[in-house]
Parts: sequence; C-alpha cells; structure tokens
Amino acid sequence: MSIDGYLDSAGDERLMLSNDADLDRVDEVRAGCDAILVGATTVRNDNPRLLVRCPDRRMERVARGLKPSPVKVTVTCGAVLDPHSRFFTTGDAEKLVYCASTSVGRARSRLSAVATVVDGGPRVSMRTVSDDLAARGVRRLMVEGGGTIHTQFLAEDVADELQLVVAPFFVGDSRARRFVDDGPFPFRAGHPARLADVQRIGEVVLLRYALSERFEESA
Ligand SMILES: NC(=O)c1ccc[n+]([C@@H]2O[C@H](COP(=O)([O-])OP(=O)(O)OC[C@H]3O[C@@H](n4cnc5c(N)ncnc54)[C@H](OP(=O)(O)O)[C@@H]3O)[C@@H](O)[C@H]2O)c1
Repeated sequence: MSIDGYLDSAGDERLMLSNDADLDRVDEVRAGCDAILVGATTVRNDNPRLLVRCPDRRMERVARGLKPSPVKVTVTCGAVLDPHSRFFTTGDAEKLVYCASTSVGRARSRLSAVATVVDGGPRVSMRTVSDDLAARGVRRLMVEGGGTIHTQFLAEDVADELQLVVAPFFVGDSRARRFVDDGPFPFRAGHPARLADVQRIGEVVLLRYALSERFEESA
C-alpha cells in the first residue's frame, strides 16, 4: 500500500507499489502456499495470472509432487467473471470460485468449463471459504487483495499473518481503494497485533504481523 494506505490509484492505470525485489519475495511466498485468493474485482480490474514466476521455484514444487503454481481461488456475489481472463486460462492448477447461492447457477453456466464453482451460502464468509479450502487439502492460503477481501479476512479473525508492504509515496485521492474498509477488526488500540518482523527492501518496507498462534516465524 501507499504511505496513506491505498492499494491502487483512482484512475484506470494500475499503480505499481512494489519493487522487483519485493515482487520476487512475494513469488517465494506464493511458491510456499497451497492456494492464492483474490476478490472478483481484482480478477476483473487487474487480470492477474497468479502464477509462481521463478522456474526454479516451480520445479521445486513439482519435485514435491505439487502443481507448479498454487490453486487459484476467488469469491463473487454477482458472478460477472470472464472465463477468458488470465485467472482461468493460465496455469494448470485447480481454480475455485466461491459464489453466493443466489448466483451459483449463473456462475456455473459461465465458468464450469474453467473452474469449480462452490456454493458459499447466502452470504459467503471468509471462514466458510477457509474451512472449505482446508477440507480440500489447502493448509496455507495466501490472500492477495483487494480491500474488500482484506477487510473480511481481518475482521473475521481468520488470518494468521499480515504482510504489509509500504511504498514510499502517497496516493492522496479518496476515490482510490484503501487497504481495508471500516470493520470490527479484533486488533485495536487495547488489543494490538504483534509486530513480528520489519524488513527494508530497497525503498519499500515489509511489516509482518502475527495475528494468531498459527503464525510461523520463519515463513
Ligand atoms: N496493491 C495491492 O497489493 C493490491 C492487491 C490486490 C488488489 N488491488 C487493487 O484492489 C482493487 C480491488 O479491490 P476491491 O476491494 O474493490 O475488490 P476485491 O476485494 O478484489 O473484490 C471485491 C469483490 O469480491 C467479491 N466478494 C467480496 N467479498 C465477497 C463475499 N463475502 N461474498 C461474495 N462475493 C464477495 C465481490 O465480487 P462481485 O462484484 O463479482 O460480486 C466483490 O465486489 C483493484 O483496483 C486492485 O488493483 C491491489
């Protein structure tokens, strides 16, 4: 995020907030996960691949009996997702779409050729998603935004770790997407999160917060 807590600019151009060294670090974290989750707006706006980029890391996963990249997961209410977007067309790992019950039919007719559509109930909670992913063998889930998704994982207290990277500039435009919305976050002034580590990566800084007992120091 920017110094003032934004994830993107207010315009159409995607704002780069990380540098190459941090993107490589993120690639390493991805390679160590079983699944990666982003919200449907991020799939629509950014058209991300969500693949492990480094060939050595992909090979190392394959040597461990895994697909080269983790399972991809998204969440939607309206089910307006393009089956030709990179989320669905790149990589050979499974793609999962958690969908509110009201639009499961629409989601399946659009996406069943490219993804598994899971009925997430009338209102999809991140705990439901996490529990269902765990039942599918996902032990380590990386959540990569956007703000709506961050808000729910943090407010529902289902995240074990927060990795926050701060870029050295402001966005200064409240039309842009913030890191989180308002919410009943469990970590407040009287009950702060534990700052587990701080790393300078060139001109950006990585803050790692331990949010649960499942936080792994060395991860
Ligand atoms: N800087 C970064 O690291 C970073 C990372 C990721 C994204 N971003 C930016 O963040 C922006 C998008 O963030 P955002 O907060 O607007 O969107 P988002 O979190 O990516 O996705 C929100 C969408 O996800 C679906 N959704 C969320 N919670 C749901 C629930 N409980 N049940 C069912 N569906 C649910 C809905 O999809 P439907 O609308 O389909 O119903 C909702 O509109 C983009 O501009 C992107 O560039 C930045």
